[in-house]
Amino acid sequence: MKSLLNASVNRLLGGGYHKASLESAEQLFLAPPFTEEVVGSVRRISTRLSLNSDEASRMLWQRESNAASQSEYDALSPVFARMARPGSILEIGPGFGRSVAFFGKKGVWDASAAVHLYDATGEETKYKQKHYDKPPKWPDVSSFCGDLAFLRECLKYNHIGNYQIHDAALTPLRELPGPFDLIYAFYSVGFHWSLDYYLDELEPLLHEKSVMVCTLNKHFKMSERLREFWTEIIEVRDLKRSSQPERLMVLSRTPLPERAVDDSLGAISKPLG
Ligand SMILES: C[S@@+](CC[C@H](N)C(=O)[O-])C[C@H]1O[C@@H](n2cnc3c(N)ncnc32)[C@H](O)[C@@H]1O
Repeated sequence: MKSLLNASVNRLLGGGYHKASLESAEQLFLAPPFTEEVVGSVRRISTRLSLNSDEASRMLWQRESNAASQSEYDALSPVFARMARPGSILEIGPGFGRSVAFFGKKGVWDASAAVHLYDATGEETKYKQKHYDKPPKWPDVSSFCGDLAFLRECLKYNHIGNYQIHDAALTPLRELPGPFDLIYAFYSVGFHWSLDYYLDELEPLLHEKSVMVCTLNKHFKMSERLREFWTEIIEVRDLKRSSQPERLMVLSRTPLPERAVDDSLGAISKPLG
């Protein structure tokens, strides 16, 4: 039965993925059962996958979600090691919580940390490149494709309890209860929409030692506004054979130390170099 399921997942994946990355990732984010309603929500976010309401699709989404998170975690581990362990975290555009589940279970923060998730329920997406330099400005909610009820369900399914969801359709970014030690956004602001247009709102959420991370669009160019911050770009091992490696922008008001700040953090505090 298990090998039949693996065969269906591999068929659904086609030849475009690095099989090793998908198979070696720790399965820390658990996808709940795929009903028609669940698949409807997942399809709006995971537009690249062809999904049905069956076990093979559930496994495919779970594997792809964990493989993406594993690559991001591996790329960011040296960065996490160079900052104090975050006590307050904001994720912008968490979708269905794959990253918060993965990072939380990996111990990027501990159970007492305050985790804030900022997303909204919506039907539409503005993923096309033409929107990159013209992101919808709040209160325009036309970039939302999340589902807050399903996000809650996924977090419960993954036994994640200590979090607060902020509805992005009701609250502007700048009104979130910052500053935060760590802010991150994967395939959201900074990727579909240029980070430049969010910096005025993000700046008040950053203290001197906060770190912000986001996935970069392949057309990303450094801007004068971004040069006001300390930035570093790191490559992420890519899941797809044909594509260029994804890049992450790491941004803060002041430079991160060159070496790990705390050697008691175990796996994520390996000294650099
Ligand atoms: C492509 S999904 C990525 C989801 C998740 N980060 C991942 O990598 O699996 C983009 C997410 O960002 C959310 N989003 C879009 N615009 C946003 C905004 N201005 N503020 C917060 N979230 C936003 C969408 O609703 C959606 O959940």
